[in-house]
Amino acid sequence: MQNDIAEILVTEEQIQARVAELGRQISNDYRDKVAGEAGQSLLLVGLLRGAIVFLSDLMRAIDIPVQLDFIGISSYGLGTESGAVRLVMDLETDIAGRHVVIVEDIVDTGKTLSYLLGNLKARNPASLQICALLDKPDRRTVPIEIKYVGFEIPDKFVVGYGLDFAEGYRNLPFVGVLKEHLYKVVLMREAIL
Ligand code: PRP
Repeated sequence: MQNDIAEILVTEEQIQARVAELGRQISNDYRDKVAGEAGQSLLLVGLLRGAIVFLSDLMRAIDIPVQLDFIGISSYGLGTESGAVRLVMDLETDIAGRHVVIVEDIVDTGKTLSYLLGNLKARNPASLQICALLDKPDRRTVPIEIKYVGFEIPDKFVVGYGLDFAEGYRNLPFVGVLKEHLYKVVLMREAIL
């Protein structure tokens, strides 16, 4: 698996250090907001599937009470950049009046989060913010305000630490750039179909 990686963009050590910082920052920002309100712990919403590795580390770096829930979103026509998205698995939690942080692995065009923000805002949470491990600002087509960002990265095809290519590589402990020949043919085929 490691032989398929052209370059390591963010090392395991860099990720762990940044996750610890983000955990401290989130704890401090929400400590007073969730204190003393029964059942009002901070709700972390993980976007399936890529966010689960980041989420599992991040939640252990947060030292205030948290609750977890998950949401699933699917994109149509990935290769064609049509970017139409829809909800495929909803939350179990009623988020009305709750402080919510969406946890995401990467923000690329911004279409996924733009859709999700609109959907969740309509449920009247007390607050709604985004925590993304990776941000690729060069690819953005929809403006998104991301409160907590791990790393800004260039427009390269990255895998690992939850991010996949054709569902593989999610278990790499670092974020790496996939060798071009491994994904080029597949992307060209998707663009044609
Ligand atoms: C990836 C990633 C984000 C989305 C970002 O999800 O996890 O959810 O794309 O792209 P955008 O900013 O252009 O909308 P993917 O569809 O690969 O699913 P996954 O989380 O299961 O890997």
